[in-house]
Amino acid sequence: MEKERKLIITGNWKMNKTVAESLDLANGLVRELKDVTEVDIAVCPPFTALGAVSEVVIDSNIRLGAQNMSENGYGAHTGEIAAGMLKEFSAKYVILGHSERRQYQRESDELVASKAKAAHEAGLKPIVCVGEQLEDREGGRTEEVVGTQIRGSLAGLTTAQMEGTVVAYEPVWAIGTGKTATSAQAQEVHAFIRNLLGDIFDEDTARIVRIQYGGSVKPDNARELMGQADVDGALVGGASLDVKNFSEIILNSI
Ligand code: 13P
Repeated sequence: MEKERKLIITGNWKMNKTVAESLDLANGLVRELKDVTEVDIAVCPPFTALGAVSEVVIDSNIRLGAQNMSENGYGAHTGEIAAGMLKEFSAKYVILGHSERRQYQRESDELVASKAKAAHEAGLKPIVCVGEQLEDREGGRTEEVVGTQIRGSLAGLTTAQMEGTVVAYEPVWAIGTGKTATSAQAQEVHAFIRNLLGDIFDEDTARIVRIQYGGSVKPDNARELMGQADVDGALVGGASLDVKNFSEIILNSI
């Protein structure tokens, strides 16, 4: 299918895979996806496997990403990882503000914005996640919640930085639940986000930014979701942990 923006499909491995398992998965993906040029592909292993996976994908069409980073540069921040450390593994992307981090690590929009700025300054492209909880949707507050997250989490980015940022819309009620947003529900929120980006930045920037959908993306629903005008890719959790499932999501989306 012909899309206005090149699709970007990213695997978020979350807190899964030993180094040995990561190597198996990465080798399998390189083998299965070597001929794909139509989609930008990235995998985000846990920090402990970044080095190993980097060596497997370095000469392939699969790019590397991390799942989080510090808003600070190198220094006295015990337990944190600086953007420069991710660059050492040739990482290109970093997921920021995932709903699991917003929920369990209490990450705020303000913190996500400072991480996004730091990522760009280090030459990494952030994948900034937003999404409403079930009670927000049921209470008719989806746009209000997502709008606040978009304004807050992207605050302070220049238009050039925004153009190099990926937004991931992940309705929290669809993550790991097997409940996917319908393609119409996804398209509605994606169009809302793009409109809002036009207001905050400008129309050209809004047209360039890629907006991924995330939440129970599987081989059998990928094509329909990716077929929506404002859906420019997917951020895949559970189904990205398996060579066959993740490869099929990508191949079914072309
Ligand atoms: P699932 O694909 O497992 O629902 O996870 C989505 C997600 O959170 C990706 O970041």
